[in-house]
Amino acid sequence: MLNPNPKNSLFIATSLDGYIADKNGGIDWLNTVPNPDLEDMGYSNFIRRIDALVMGRTTFETVCAFDIDWPYTKPVYVLSNTLIEIPENYQGKAFLKKGSLTDILHDIHQQGHHRLYIDGGATIQSFLKEDLIDEMILTTIPILLGGGSPLFSELQNKMQFELMDSNVFLSQISQHHYHRKKALVVKE
Ligand SMILES: NC(=O)c1ccc[n+]([C@@H]2O[C@H](COP(=O)([O-])OP(=O)(O)OC[C@H]3O[C@@H](n4cnc5c(N)ncnc54)[C@H](OP(=O)(O)O)[C@@H]3O)[C@@H](O)[C@H]2O)c1
Repeated sequence: MLNPNPKNSLFIATSLDGYIADKNGGIDWLNTVPNPDLEDMGYSNFIRRIDALVMGRTTFETVCAFDIDWPYTKPVYVLSNTLIEIPENYQGKAFLKKGSLTDILHDIHQQGHHRLYIDGGATIQSFLKEDLIDEMILTTIPILLGGGSPLFSELQNKMQFELMDSNVFLSQISQHHYHRKKALVVKE
């Protein structure tokens, strides 16, 4: 059955200057603050309440290149217009999607997945351009990268968000949780 209230969420870390990857596409700076007890900063709680991930091809390929087991227990929808198929090792775990976001989301909702974790810079930007992001959990690492892949890009209109919660982890890393605030449309 289609859920009338689908929800698209971000859970992503940026540098102080708003980048999600450095000039070389690297993300090792995410670990610049020592984390001896492996504080997960709310990640497992977040993952528990989502149905599936939607990520861009670059982020998918970055995860595939990590020397670790597949880290996701939920289905991963990979957006790409150039990838011909999902590599054999990831079939059954990751699923290729192309087309308009409206069509892609319709297909994913038909699979019963309504609460989605949207990941990857270009992907997030394309969702924001269509005002399709409902929730953002933004974690800020105290580093200036000076360039790289930005989280945000230009938008046609302003978008207001409401701060729901804030936390500081490891005395260094701030995290803000926002919900999209939309003007109420009163129907005559
Ligand atoms: N800091 C963090 O927490 C964090 C989190 C996630 C990722 N990252 C890093 O961020 C970088 C990835 O960022 P990115 O800006 O390259 O973005 P991305 O969203 O991961 O990948 C972009 C690609 O996704 C595909 N795509 C995106 N939107 C699409 C759409 N609407 N329809 C069809 N295909 C679409 C396109 O692939 P095709 O070219 O194949 O069509 C596009 O080139 C990586 O270095 C990754 O490691 C960091």
